[in-house]
Amino acid sequence: IDISNLRSATGGIITLDSGYKNTGSCESAITFLDGEKGILRYRGYSIEELAEKADFLEVAFLLIFGELPTQAQRDKFHADIKAQSVVDEDIKKILDAFPKSGHPMGVLSSLTSALTAFNPSSVNVNSEEDMYRAIVKIMGKFPVLVAWTHRKKQGLPLDYGDKNLGYVENVLKMMFRQPNEEYTQSRVLVDALDKLLILHADHEQNCSTSTVRITGSSHAGLFASLSAGISALWGPLHGGANQAVLEMLEAIKADGGDTKKYMAKAKDKDDPFRLMGFGHRVYKNFDPRARIIKKAADEVLEDLGVEDPILDIAKGLEKEALQDPYFVDRKLYPNVDFYSGIIYRAMGIPTDMFTVMFALGRLPGWIAQWREMRLGKEPIGRPRQLYVGATQRSFVEIDKR
Ligand code: ACO
Repeated sequence: IDISNLRSATGGIITLDSGYKNTGSCESAITFLDGEKGILRYRGYSIEELAEKADFLEVAFLLIFGELPTQAQRDKFHADIKAQSVVDEDIKKILDAFPKSGHPMGVLSSLTSALTAFNPSSVNVNSEEDMYRAIVKIMGKFPVLVAWTHRKKQGLPLDYGDKNLGYVENVLKMMFRQPNEEYTQSRVLVDALDKLLILHADHEQNCSTSTVRITGSSHAGLFASLSAGISALWGPLHGGANQAVLEMLEAIKADGGDTKKYMAKAKDKDDPFRLMGFGHRVYKNFDPRARIIKKAADEVLEDLGVEDPILDIAKGLEKEALQDPYFVDRKLYPNVDFYSGIIYRAMGIPTDMFTVMFALGRLPGWIAQWREMRLGKEPIGRPRQLYVGATQRSFVEIDKR
């Protein structure tokens, strides 16, 4: 039902929908999601097929421009991105000023916004050509910011990696190369990261994506809109769940591995504890991404010969939850982030970088949604409210209060 004329047609009625649970904010041709049936498709292609057959850059092109690229289109896209895979030297000074203990998501969102100052032409984008230039710029520079955020925390010298490598391969090299050391990344890790990034690449009008669209709807620049999206992603109810899941699993392990105790806490309405990585606003059957990731986690751990007791705790929790009436009745299933942290951990990525990796994957989705919103000339996002505060009051001087 399109209710955009409700107010004028009714003389002032508005709808109230806290958390926008039942409100569509736009028309979109990017991602299809059926929460009841557990279906996720990007531009009509199933997530299962894309995760198996496509690479991240192809998926990024598909999301942003609407079609899978031909080989020539993919090569050009990659070459244009590579040409932008450097950042202004002064970015290093900003990075240097952050405390080493700062959370990587705060650093990343600040640096992404700061890029606007060094690339002012990315703000006034009035044609598809302007947009394309801004898009390849951020696709090139963002992985550098991600890797440098990690290196800063690790006390490693900054590194541009090797532009001759694939996009995802180079992210790993930029992050992990040690000084004076040849870094060779395992194919298993590159493929697993590629898959994870594809699975995270878009998810229609979630909290961070809505933030990007609504920020961009004021015609703030692309990088500023993305920075807002990164901040929204940070929270533990959204992208920050991957960090929270790992911390929860660690805490259960340290507490003797008693999963039943934590199941009871999650069900106790007087306890704020929630089983992190369970439940989803839209999926009320299962999260198709979680199935793919669970399998990938098994493969990665087996290939690397890692035996992680955390994985056993995760599997135990999942098994118990799937049989527990509290979780079954509320349709709470493992979501994408229940298993992603286990793979990141096996890759040697620190826990507080997990949500940064999510942001790297979500980047093309945010860009695609921003581009769709701008090309569709959507109006500025401006929800209404139901005012429940005081009615008219007379001002009282401070000495009389
Ligand atoms: N553990 C225990 N109980 C839960 C959980 C959970 N993880 N999730 C929901 N519930 C319960 C709620 O307490 C509520 O119970 P009630 O009906 O008795 O009051 C019921 O299930 C419905 O939950 P809501 O919070 O109303 O559902 P909503 O759609 O608003 O929230 C959310 C979805 C935020 C994902 C929620 O399930 C949650 O907090 N999960 C844990 C955090 C998480 O994993 N987030 C990642 C989401 S995926 C992503 O963003 C990439």
